[in-house]
Amino acid sequence: MKEIKIGLLGLGNIGTGTYKVLEMNRDQIEASVGTKVNIVKILEKYIDRERDIDVPREKFVAKAEDIFDDPEIDIVIELLGGVEPAASLIEQALRSGKHVVTANKAAVAANYHRLMDAAKEGGVQLRFEASVGGGIPVLTALTGCLQANKFTRVLGIVNGTTNYILDKMTTEGLSYDEVLKDAQEKGFAEADPTADVEGIDAANKLSILMALMFDHYVHPDDIPRKGITEITPEDIEEARGNKTLIKLIAYAEKFEDGSIKYEVRPMYIKETHPLGGVHKEYNAVFVEGNAVGNLMFYGPGAGPLPTGSAVMGDVMELAKTML
Ligand code: HSE
Repeated sequence: MKEIKIGLLGLGNIGTGTYKVLEMNRDQIEASVGTKVNIVKILEKYIDRERDIDVPREKFVAKAEDIFDDPEIDIVIELLGGVEPAASLIEQALRSGKHVVTANKAAVAANYHRLMDAAKEGGVQLRFEASVGGGIPVLTALTGCLQANKFTRVLGIVNGTTNYILDKMTTEGLSYDEVLKDAQEKGFAEADPTADVEGIDAANKLSILMALMFDHYVHPDDIPRKGITEITPEDIEEARGNKTLIKLIAYAEKFEDGSIKYEVRPMYIKETHPLGGVHKEYNAVFVEGNAVGNLMFYGPGAGPLPTGSAVMGDVMELAKTML
């Protein structure tokens, strides 16, 4: 039986988490797929970085072509992050006839049609479940078992850093700066938190959600957005007085005339709304479909193992189509 061979671009936090998911659940993954599944080549600059996994040194390669030109490799996992060179490498892999799995919301959102066209022309699939909501199985659900619906609305808490900051400001009465500093010290927030706190990361995810739910692609730069940097403890208190919470929401709505409104900004959410129960760094995506009604997908939106779980899920779905 054919062995599924994978080339991995990037062995950072998410790459390491993905490698770990395969190692810790290998028996079950291979039994489910029906054959051996192996990450055989890894493109990574920092070979000697401290990681709590054992990776044989001979797996590391110096150039992406070492993976793309290898006829034995069927699937490329891209976990480099950032728009470039990731998007060009994804495109190159697809055009080389490799299926690609990525968690990279920035690269997919900024290049949606370019990458979809490359997949079509390469006769392969591009899967990116992990790009929105980390471990939450939302994209596959929207395009799979919910595909018979016309979607009318999405409200997403799709950025864990900002939800953590707003939640802690709410529960502990602290200022934005105090919580951000604490979050950075604990490793919840990046040293440069701009993409998170300015809503850029959430706009990337909303762009992907809209493309899949409404078949309407909007470049993330064209999504109106406001971040959370100006939220004060007084704003939080005022919201509390009205039995609401302030949440950074990625919102899109399709109206009967076909027009679509979309934006990312802090919004007041009723304490009793399901999104009001989303605390700490958790994510949730609340959707309305005309047949199914209201649904909320909830869970860990980031982190090496949850994101690795979604990445490996996509890999397994692809592997099952190849045997
Ligand atoms: N920086 C992102 C977040 C990581 O805080 O949610 C997951 O995309």
